[in-house]
Amino acid sequence: MAEFDLVVRGGTVVTAAETFRADVGIKDGRIAALGEKLAGARTMDAGGLLVMPGGVDTHCHIEQPGADGTVHEESFATASASAFAGGTTSAVCFAPQFRGHPIRDTLADYRARAAHAMMDYSFHQIITDPTDEVIGKEVPEIIASGIRSLKVFLTYDPLHLDDRQYLRVLAAARRHGALVTVHAENYDAINYRTEALLAAGHAAPKYHAISRPPVVEREATHRAIALAELMDQPIQIFHVSCPEAAEEIARAQARGVKVWGETCTQYFVLGAADMDRPGFEGAKFMCSPSPRDAAARAGLWDVVRQGTLDVVSSDHCGFSYGGARGKGAAGRNAPFRDIPNGIPGLAARLPILFSEGVAKGRIDLPHFVRLTAANPARLMGLAPRKGSLMPGADADIVLWDPAKRMTITNALMQHAIDYTPYEGMEITGWPVATIARGRVVMQEGKVQAEPGSGRFLARGPYDFIRPRGVLPDGFDMSAALPAG
Ligand code: URP
Ligand code: ZN
Ligand code: ZN
Repeated sequence: MAEFDLVVRGGTVVTAAETFRADVGIKDGRIAALGEKLAGARTMDAGGLLVMPGGVDTHCHIEQPGADGTVHEESFATASASAFAGGTTSAVCFAPQFRGHPIRDTLADYRARAAHAMMDYSFHQIITDPTDEVIGKEVPEIIASGIRSLKVFLTYDPLHLDDRQYLRVLAAARRHGALVTVHAENYDAINYRTEALLAAGHAAPKYHAISRPPVVEREATHRAIALAELMDQPIQIFHVSCPEAAEEIARAQARGVKVWGETCTQYFVLGAADMDRPGFEGAKFMCSPSPRDAAARAGLWDVVRQGTLDVVSSDHCGFSYGGARGKGAAGRNAPFRDIPNGIPGLAARLPILFSEGVAKGRIDLPHFVRLTAANPARLMGLAPRKGSLMPGADADIVLWDPAKRMTITNALMQHAIDYTPYEGMEITGWPVATIARGRVVMQEGKVQAEPGSGRFLARGPYDFIRPRGVLPDGFDMSAALPAG
């Protein structure tokens, strides 16, 4: 009997640290061995290909209900197909809380939606209303159930938290062991500026960027970190779009603060100028923080190379362009304030980062693996099961042709959205097969997997979320107010 169920033979294995020639032996859905001349019941020829950990996308909005009754137009099944098409095998998505409601009103429904996933998944729990019951009772229960990250918004109606509410979430995370992830933009500054722009008649999509320049992101990033430092609570700043915000993270990291920074594919290749396309077209590129300019894009590569930002996610959002829902929900002449923020990008994440990063010589192969798989898995407590090719890890693998040239089209994305903001982009390097827990789920663009075959990834306590034990004046205010 063959020793392995499947052997990926003759490829170049890329880990977070190195690149070497090896066969990969898979047994019972896990990596069983790396070696030479392995024999399996089934063999996949990886000659000339890279063999890398499947992508781990820790920032995806999938089938996410909103307080207004809307639901993102991407189901867990279609999003999984898109993920597999792009070489990603697991994702962390966002379980909502609606203001005025406990979390239990929405979590069971969200779990039921996610049960149709084909990729493995976990949740961040969004906190929009940190009442005594939520902080004192629900958050500890949710964390104990394996949701080890809480998401807070410092801007957006009706999601944003004020500083006191943010502190309450930090305190609860510290007490019970979770990472806090932060959307860092200044709520009042954006609203003030938006009102002023609209009053002056500036309502087109391009004014979205002008309503939220880098300074509002820098200010909120600084404040988010300062309050986390006060509480001694680890945080990750989401979707850093510009070097100004990254500098705040770098300064805090130099002080030893446990703060990490994520950026997203779009900030390397899209710009504010994309929102200045004719008519409503600019809405296709609208997300927050806003894509910036060429100098910001160049600066972002610098802070990625320096390690300040160590995760690249998609921030995938299921809003279509042409339909009555999605970008056009408020009409095709809607002012920028009323156009949903967020763009689809699950399938495009790895190809764009590979093409712009590795193929253009900005990062090396292990760095690519760290940004797309190893670091997100570690930071979210999914390692070593995910983001790794070490024996014992789940056999989540992407076989990659580093020389294949492709032009991005919406059809290639295999999502349920009617556009991609990356249409027409020339790419070097493309996934040719994706393996998820030992199942070949994509080959030459053909996705084959059963809805419901993905698993929820419950996360236990892990090192990244342990506080440093460095408290201003030695006073632990997280312990002082039991309900937060
Ligand atoms: O514009 C964005 N990024 N929409 C998704 C929600 C968020 O802020 O992460
Ligand atoms: Zn956000
Ligand atoms: Zn997001």
